[in-house]
Amino acid sequence: MNTASPARKESIEANRRRTFAIISHPDAGKTTLTEKFLLYAGAVAEAGAVKARAGRRKATSDWMALEQQRGISVTSTVLQFKYREHIFNLLDTPGHRDFSEDTYRVLSAVDAAIMVLDAAKGIETQTLKLFEVCRAQSLPIITFINKFDRPGRDPLELLDQIERQINLKPTPVTWPVGIPGNFKGVIDRRDGTFINFTRSIRGLNMASEEILDEDTASQRIGDDWESAKYECHLLDEIGANLDIKSFLAGETTPLFVGSALTNFGVRHLLDAIVDLAPPPGARSDTEGSPRSLEEPFSGFVFKIQANMDPSHRDHLAFVRVCSGEFNRGMPLIHGRTGKSFSTKYATSVFGSDRDTIDKAYPGDVVGLVNASELQIGDTLYQSSPVTFPPFASFVPEIFSTVQTRDTSKHKQFRSGLHQLEREGVIQVLRDKKDELPIVLAAVGQMQFEVFAHRIQYEFGAEVLLSPSIYKVARVTDEATAEKLDSINGARVFARGDGTLMALFESSYWLDHVASQNPTWKLDQVS
Ligand code: G4P
Repeated sequence: MNTASPARKESIEANRRRTFAIISHPDAGKTTLTEKFLLYAGAVAEAGAVKARAGRRKATSDWMALEQQRGISVTSTVLQFKYREHIFNLLDTPGHRDFSEDTYRVLSAVDAAIMVLDAAKGIETQTLKLFEVCRAQSLPIITFINKFDRPGRDPLELLDQIERQINLKPTPVTWPVGIPGNFKGVIDRRDGTFINFTRSIRGLNMASEEILDEDTASQRIGDDWESAKYECHLLDEIGANLDIKSFLAGETTPLFVGSALTNFGVRHLLDAIVDLAPPPGARSDTEGSPRSLEEPFSGFVFKIQANMDPSHRDHLAFVRVCSGEFNRGMPLIHGRTGKSFSTKYATSVFGSDRDTIDKAYPGDVVGLVNASELQIGDTLYQSSPVTFPPFASFVPEIFSTVQTRDTSKHKQFRSGLHQLEREGVIQVLRDKKDELPIVLAAVGQMQFEVFAHRIQYEFGAEVLLSPSIYKVARVTDEATAEKLDSINGARVFARGDGTLMALFESSYWLDHVASQNPTWKLDQVS
């Protein structure tokens, strides 16, 4: 007989969950690793299913055509699978710096991240920002150095680069024997055993693992074994050893090496997610008080996506469960408006594939359909009210004016603008005096491309984007806005959330104005 009280059930279920994201440079092997996770979890019989599924998805969606052309990922999906009696929720992140704001929001919904690096490339500049975003959230990060089956960089040099560039100290758990390209296997530094590298043909099936003790490995491998042992000794000397406390604080990163293509290291990594990555914990509300997992249902919206499937034309909100048990059909309260919200059509979210979700627990992600009133950052709760902190906006780095090419499509233009702003695709700034064209603000150029593509194909409004004369933004208030009206080279706009933004033609001019008027409010954007 099950004697667990309903209250304890949420904690038990939460403890079984690991909710994480993989962040990587495009081409470092994220898709391959995801496939291998599914293979090892028994969720697919043979590797290749993810790509096949992704292919099907791409064929049914307009804007995924853009992803395909540009080789980028704009959509996020959530995979759920079981491994060692644990339930893994793997959240996808876009793999390009221009979408770092999206990545930031997805990362706020996970409890850990896996950073995948290509052994030949290390950390690349175009994705450095993504890793910094991850680091800035103090998320526990596990690092996987992939593609060891082919020539690459010296592993010690890669450790140094990670530490210098993202200020995260690597603590290798497995260490390579043999150089990349002539890879023999890894030492598991926890017990000194050697795991022999065997190639399986493109890793279609799980690889068998040969584990040798130190003496046998030394006899069989020879010089490469001795060099690897020496390097492990160096790692001991500098204290680069697994340390759970600093890992959970986001200061050190347990590091694994392997080759996703040939399946090598995949099991180690999955085990690390179970054994090292934290389960969902009590999430802090806006006051900083943690909400216990056992409180009635609560969750927050971290992503909104309209028109994922053009045949449905719906609005899907991705909600991360923070406390309690979710039961499909349960009425919830929408914190921002106080209105009741129906959950009759709750689904899982794998691209445009949908399955009904009946129950969910802390750490899970629920897709709510027809959620046109929800916004990113909104809280939903069942009975005891709570508000989770809103997301900070990123500092926009580029600005563009936007107009519709065809004035008869003004209605479509306005509704597209409203929707894409709500999804956080772009920041929309409107001139306070309503004289100037609307300005779009973004972190990266590709956000403009996604905006233009989606407003044309989903809303039927072709737009004209032109570089704006404004180059830098600051948050201001009504009093300063009035004063700014009287000077040249600056203009005040209102963002969708009501924040007043002062735009300047150059940072030189901004610095000048700020230094001449120290009492004016010209804050860094957040
Ligand atoms: P991404 O999602 O991070 O963009 O990377 P993806 O998994 O698509 O991998 C990019 C390329 O790198 C693929 O080759 C993939 O086969 C290869 N790759 C991934 N892991 C490894 C590895 O451990 N070793 C080696 N040698 N290659 C690896 P592709 O030629 O672009 O695609 P495909 O024809 O193999 O599908």
